[in-house]
Amino acid sequence: MDKLTIRDVDVAGKRVFVRVDFNVPLEDGKVTDDSRIRASIPTIHYLLTHGARVILASHLGRPDGKVQDGLRLRPVAERLSGLLGRNVPVTGDALGIGTVDAVKRLRNGELLLLENLRFHAEEEKNDPAFARQLAEYAEIYVNDAFGTAHRAHASTVGVAQLLPPYAGFLMEREIAMLSRLLEDPAHPFAAIVGGAKVSGKLKVLDSLLAKVDVLVLGGGMANTFLLGQGKSVGKSLAEHDMVEEARRVLAAADKAKVKVILPVDVVVAKEVTRGTEYKTIPAEKIPASWHIVDVGRATLDLMEESLAEARTVFWNGPLGVFEIPSFAHGTRALARFLAARADAGATIVVGGGDSVAAIQQQGLAERFTHISTGGGASLEFLEGRELPGVAVLQDRPDAKPAGKAGGKSRRKVAAKAGA
Ligand code: 3PG
Repeated sequence: MDKLTIRDVDVAGKRVFVRVDFNVPLEDGKVTDDSRIRASIPTIHYLLTHGARVILASHLGRPDGKVQDGLRLRPVAERLSGLLGRNVPVTGDALGIGTVDAVKRLRNGELLLLENLRFHAEEEKNDPAFARQLAEYAEIYVNDAFGTAHRAHASTVGVAQLLPPYAGFLMEREIAMLSRLLEDPAHPFAAIVGGAKVSGKLKVLDSLLAKVDVLVLGGGMANTFLLGQGKSVGKSLAEHDMVEEARRVLAAADKAKVKVILPVDVVVAKEVTRGTEYKTIPAEKIPASWHIVDVGRATLDLMEESLAEARTVFWNGPLGVFEIPSFAHGTRALARFLAARADAGATIVVGGGDSVAAIQQQGLAERFTHISTGGGASLEFLEGRELPGVAVLQDRPDAKPAGKAGGKSRRKVAAKAGA
């Protein structure tokens, strides 16, 4: 990786501001998936054992600049305390005299967590005065929040412009693994893109078409492609205004000689609810009043056959309505198949969201090459854009100048704040 990391700086006795992404799911005040917290432990542990005074900072949810008790970081601090085996105090607010004092009282090898940064509207606006107040806490800035690196906010960009900025280990690994997909994937290279909507994934589809040999489409977004092929999709989720774009992507794939796999049979349900009637039918025969909710066995066979030889696979997004167990079979089966491919030596990288849940629920995570902590961030990275939270980190003195990575992997900086 071309960025300086925490290995490149002496942190002993220094106050270090560490932007982490602890935006984790909560239910009844408990963290239901702690993978993002776990993924930051190596950086936190390294800094503490090297004598740093660690100020952790994160957002949680989208409170829009207002304090929301349900989005306080207390449950996260409790989980982190359990993982570190020591108490992690959380401040009452990211700013204020009490927090300034708590930061001053930190001794070497101690840490605290600032309260949810997004309780201040200035965070998402990358407000310079807010960034300055945060920067005053520390002497060194570390970004380990890959999941938020596509946001140009005060804690991801503003503070990094005021203190010497370094990448944490999570950030380092994410950049290294995802860069490998862009710059040096072993072929055949396949991408599996699922999830609800085409609209949010058009750019990444365009970018992937220039790299992959096989493109597998599933989930709600595949319905829009089925419409593009002239099939009817009944009452299924589909973006009728994106049908032309879907056709364009299929034509571009054809031109680039990328093999596209779309569902040939599907599970359809009367309603998109638990306990409803459902059945598997060919993709040509969707009844007008039913909804596509999963892929069928023939589609899975086709997908597995097309992926069997792949040496690199990127997967983002479920193949069906994954949150309803009866409609999660396709996604879960795909997760098991890919775990077996990883065992056989293929590089399998997963980017965020429900695909990760399908892997974790089945205890398969350890078998994958890399599971990104960033959903939106990993997609923007694979679009070929340099993320603002990455761009702002210091380049290694021997780094290649930006834009010299070669035509296909050249990246643009995604500069849009809050984009
Ligand atoms: C995420 O969960 O994708 C990141 O934490 C970013 O959150 P955001 O989409 O609310 O900016």
